[in-house]
Amino acid sequence: MAHLAVHGVVKRFGAQTVVDGLDFAVARGELVSLLGPSGCGKTTLLRLIAGLVLADGGRITLAGRELAAVPAHRRNVSVVFQNYALFPHLSVRENVGFGLRARKLPGAEVAPKVEEALALVRMQAFADRPVTQLSGGQQQRVAVARALVVQPDLLLLDEPFSALDRKLRETMQIELKALLKARAMTAVFVTHDQDEALAVSDRIAVMNAGRIEQFTDPGTLYAKPATAFALDFVGLSTRLAGRVAAVDGERLQVETAAGALRVEAGFSRGAPVLVGVRPERIRLGPGGEGDNTVQAVVSDIVPLGARTHVYAQAIEGDRLLCELPGHADLGGLAPGATTALHWPVADTLVYPAPAA
Ligand SMILES: Nc1ncnc2c1ncn2[C@@H]1O[C@H](COP(=O)(O)OP(=O)(O)O)[C@@H](O)[C@H]1O
Ligand SMILES: [Mg+2]
Repeated sequence: MAHLAVHGVVKRFGAQTVVDGLDFAVARGELVSLLGPSGCGKTTLLRLIAGLVLADGGRITLAGRELAAVPAHRRNVSVVFQNYALFPHLSVRENVGFGLRARKLPGAEVAPKVEEALALVRMQAFADRPVTQLSGGQQQRVAVARALVVQPDLLLLDEPFSALDRKLRETMQIELKALLKARAMTAVFVTHDQDEALAVSDRIAVMNAGRIEQFTDPGTLYAKPATAFALDFVGLSTRLAGRVAAVDGERLQVETAAGALRVEAGFSRGAPVLVGVRPERIRLGPGGEGDNTVQAVVSDIVPLGARTHVYAQAIEGDRLLCELPGHADLGGLAPGATTALHWPVADTLVYPAPAA
């Protein structure tokens, strides 16, 4: 049985439906991300689970308990807010102990739990500091310690790394994941950053306009995006608008501005589609049997260190992108040259054309 289960939850603000009949289930000990663009309803869903806003419909259960009638402070859910929301007039130790004192735990029991939580995030040396005198990374550690010290059934984190610079963010992601895994904590991260979701999650729920479009492990999400939105939101891709020109058994032929392509999925003749390919699946030069091949003029070559991106000219709305290892020999290829891009039919993704 799911540890956290969200069934058909609806939340409206005025005429706007922000969470739209959403289903979502998380197993005990799982680290899950809600990944989606700004405004898609991620924070609202988090607040619904925490009990900070009330749903207009649906059900949420945690550890087998229906939450509708349970107020936020009795749900045993901890939240790490985007800005950490530390109490500025309290020290590090007082911030971490706050939840335990609020639960009326005797002082003698509070102290050792607080020390343990501080040790967990390596902040013992800063215990007596005002939180206003901490760096961003240290503030985040305090917020995490404050959330974990009460031993919640569920930890919710709203864009917990967004205030940190890139290097620190990557370190903190690895650190926090290890810490939560070691404690078998169940956690839901909210983020709009795909790299963050990929770094911290067992599974990622791609959210769009109040709904979850796909909920799967990071590898599957990247290799087999279920929708054109998921393809676009996670990772880079070559994408070509087209129309099914012929159906030949299991294979379809799709006409695009870059030429005819073969795809493997079930659409009927005349259907407008979007064809996608992950850029590292694409090779340059003449293709072989079982490949789709496109002739195009190179428009830009972007060296990115470990990788090199080769862009080719495409009509507005389309994109032709090939990703090669940074050490690949480009054989003197330069912008303006015509080259062939080819990739296996089996790696050719196809979706109904997104509404304009
Ligand atoms: N308290 C509120 N009152 C009215 N509208 C809100 C409120 N909270 C959020 N919204 C709206 O709901 C939508 C989703 O917001 P939010 O859940 O914060 O998105 P996200 O966290 O994915 O960026 C936005 O359009 C936002 O303006
Ligand atoms: Mg948000």
